[in-house]
This record gives sequence, structure tokens and C-alpha cells, in this order.
Amino acid sequence: MWTIDRAREGDLAPLARLHEAVRPGRWSTDALRAEWLRSDAIILVARGAAGAPGVLIARRVLDELHVHDVAVATELRRRGVGGELLDALAAVAGPPEVRRILLELRAGHAAALGLYAGHGFVVVGRRPRYYPDGEDAILMTRTIESGQSGLPLRVDVPVVENRAEGGANHRLVVRVPDWPGAEPGQFVMLSAGARTDVERTDPLLPRPMAVYRGHAKAAAAEIEILYKASGRGTRLLAETLPGQQLRMLGPLGGAFPPIPRAGAAILVGGGTGIASLYELASRAAGAAVVHVVLGARGESDLMGVEDFASLDVDLHVATEDGSRGQRGVVTDVLGPLLDRIAGPAPTIYACGPTPMMHACARIAKAADTRCVVSLENNMACGFGVCLGCAVPMTAGGYSLLCRAGPVYDAGDVVWERLS
Ligand SMILES: Cc1cc2nc3c(=O)[nH]c(=O)nc-3n(C[C@H](O)[C@H](O)[C@H](O)COP(=O)(O)OP(=O)(O)OC[C@H]3O[C@@H](n4cnc5c(N)ncnc54)[C@H](O)[C@@H]3O)c2cc1C
Ligand code: FES
Repeated sequence: MWTIDRAREGDLAPLARLHEAVRPGRWSTDALRAEWLRSDAIILVARGAAGAPGVLIARRVLDELHVHDVAVATELRRRGVGGELLDALAAVAGPPEVRRILLELRAGHAAALGLYAGHGFVVVGRRPRYYPDGEDAILMTRTIESGQSGLPLRVDVPVVENRAEGGANHRLVVRVPDWPGAEPGQFVMLSAGARTDVERTDPLLPRPMAVYRGHAKAAAAEIEILYKASGRGTRLLAETLPGQQLRMLGPLGGAFPPIPRAGAAILVGGGTGIASLYELASRAAGAAVVHVVLGARGESDLMGVEDFASLDVDLHVATEDGSRGQRGVVTDVLGPLLDRIAGPAPTIYACGPTPMMHACARIAKAADTRCVVSLENNMACGFGVCLGCAVPMTAGGYSLLCRAGPVYDAGDVVWERLS
């Protein structure tokens, strides 16, 4: 049988040979490599004992995944490889980032129509004489249900750098092989303390940490994490030396909705929540009007503030002791900032302590604007098994923060019952 995961660099030549056998002239190794390096591309490969019997190539376009190609070795057709690749694609990215998968196929290809229909695709359109030989194309889509998550890596990663940055703040850089890329707001679970020959079971639970920088897909990415050494696990993390290994699971969770080009947004970060917002700010800086409000108890508690200062954003800082920026908390800055902005209030993106995000949600409601939050609740497993991260929802019931979150519309969360 076979397993399915994302293509690695070493897969590209065998996959090109598979394509050549099935659909000659379409994908050379170089063309596949160029596709694999794109941050919006997803290449999934089915692996079996005798090699790679199937490959699926898709690209993300806004909130859709467009399937460009599915190829299965001739001798393994009708064994379910193609269907499993499609199911795996649905699991690679879920809401709110990706909401549907779209593909097109020849109208006369009855076997493929049956395969796709059997995997949740419905016909949504027809393009007359679409193919060069005059055959019509059929368009099919599959909606991705809430609760499906990505194909995270579970790897031991070498520490490149781990340095104290004032106060309890630390900056960690790890090297990750075959990093599939991440979106702003996604996180990894890091097990506390260096890996040794003896399996570490204390503390048992890994700690969720936002991917601060290093979002691009790469064969050997360097991922940056900003963290506060506060409890036992993060203090052990702080003791890990360059060259030692940490266990990492990720990327996990959904992403922030992107800030539209030529749009405007206010990003509000408090404490460790600042780390979740940097990539969102950096992607939109210069292309949209981005106001950033960062807060902490004092200057030495502020994370990454110089990184934000180097971006083309309107930066405001608030510290409770007045050691940097305005004396007070972030919401003391947010209200007056909203009052000064002419026209409709921009969307607010907030990450930080729960009372801070709740206050941002109230301010956004009063200003009649959207507020998106990234919750920082405790997590135990990070992938939907322990139920330790349940968030009460206004629509009733609970949402698992590690699967459907950590990003939510503030109005969807019952703040009063959030622990
Ligand atoms: C999505 C997300 C992104 C984050 N990003 C960052 C970041 O970039 N930088 C940063 O500094 N912090 C971040 N945090 C917060 C960070 O995970 C916590 O500060 C960290 O877990 C504290 O660990 P500790 O060892 O210091 O504390 P400790 O008190 O030793 O341990 C806290 C840990 O105990 C466990 N735990 C405690 N209570 C429960 C419970 N009720 N259910 C399940 N498990 C429990 C969890 O494993 C929890 O992570 C993030 C949190 C989330 C949810
Ligand atoms: S952290 Fe275990 S279910 Fe979410």
C-alpha cells in the first residue's frame, strides 16, 4: 500500500518520470522543481514500497485550491490512489484559509467524473470546446469542511540560534527540512528541552508557538520563533543550545484572513501575542495601510518591536510603566486611533491575553467593524485529540482551537466563558 505526504526535493525526478510515462511532455524535473518552490503550490505524493505510484499538483488561489494535475501509474489505476490524493489535499488546508477545491476535466472522461463524484466533487459548470481538440471541459468543486487540518511535519529540528533578548524574551531559530511553508497566524508545537538519546517525558506536553518568520516553503527552511521563558516548558526551551535538537510538530491551525492590497488594518499585539502578527504585518506593509499597536508591561517585555519598526507600518507602542511609547495598555491607543481614521473603520486583528482581545472585540463592535483574534489558550496535543482547547462559540457548542482556530471572528467567541 502507500502513504501520502508532501513532495520532497528528492521526489521530483521520479515524479517527472511518472508523468512522462502517463502524460508525456507535461512536467519535466525542472518544471516540477519550479512548481515545488512556489509558496502557493501543493504537490502531494503517494509513496509505496515500489516507489511513488501517484502525484497531485495544486495551487492555492485566494480561498480555493485549483487542481492542475493528478497522475497515477498505469498499473495502479482503479486502486484508489487518485481518490486518496484528493482526500489528502482536502486535509492539507482547511477553513478559513481554503474553502473549496476546484478542478476541470474532459466531458468525455467518465471514469474520472465517477472518481471525483465519489470523493465529494459536484459539477458546477461546463466550458464548451475548451480543449484544443474541441471537447468540452466540466468544472467540479468540493467544499472543504471545517475541522480538517494540514499535513504537519513531526520532526526533530536542529537549533541554529537561541538567544535572550531582554526581559523574559528569547529568539529561537531552528532549521526544518522539507518545510511545507506556513501562513500568518499558523503555529508549531515545540517540545520543551533538547532531544537526547533518552526520550523526554517531563514535561510531557509540547508548547504552541507562532511561526514568527520563515514562512516560505523550502527544502531547508530556518524558522524563527519569539517566546517568553515564563513557565517550566519555556524555561527548558531557553536552556537549549545551538546544535541540539528540539521536536517540532507543524505548521498547525488556520491563518489570518489576508489584509487586502490597498486596504487598511489595525494590528493589536500584547505580550506573546505580538509574535503571531509580524508576518501578517510584513506581507501587507507598503501595499496596504497597516497600523500596528504593540503593548507590554515595560520596554524590556516588548517582543520584536524593532522588527516591526523596520516595516513600512504606522507603529504605536504602549507600556504600562511608560518606559516606551504611551503609558497605558494597547486599548488606550486603539480607541483614539480609530477616532482619528477617516471613513469606515479598518478590520482589527488582535492577539494577546484574553482580556485584551475581549476589549478589542468590544471596541470593534462599538466602531461597527470586524475584529479577528488569534486565541492563545493552553493546548495539550495541538491536533484535535485531547479536547483540551475547546472554545465556547456564540452559535452554540465548542470549537477546537488547534483545528478550527487559533484565528476566529471575535463575534463568534463567547468571551465570558473563555478560560
Ligand atoms: C496558537 C498559539 C501561539 C502561541 N505563540 C506563542 C509565541 O509565539 N510565543 C510565546 O512566547 N508564546 C506563545 N503562545 C503561548 C505559549 O504557548 C505559552 O505561553 C506556553 O505554552 C507556556 O508554556 P510554559 O512552559 O512557559 O508554561 P507552563 O505553565 O509550564 O505550561 C503551560 C502548558 O501547560 C499545559 N497546560 C496547562 N493547562 C492546560 C489545560 N487546561 N489544558 C491543556 N494543557 C494545559 C499546556 O501544554 C500549556 O502549553 C502561543 C499560544 C498559542 C495557543
Ligand atoms: S490541543 Fe488537543 S484538541 Fe486541541
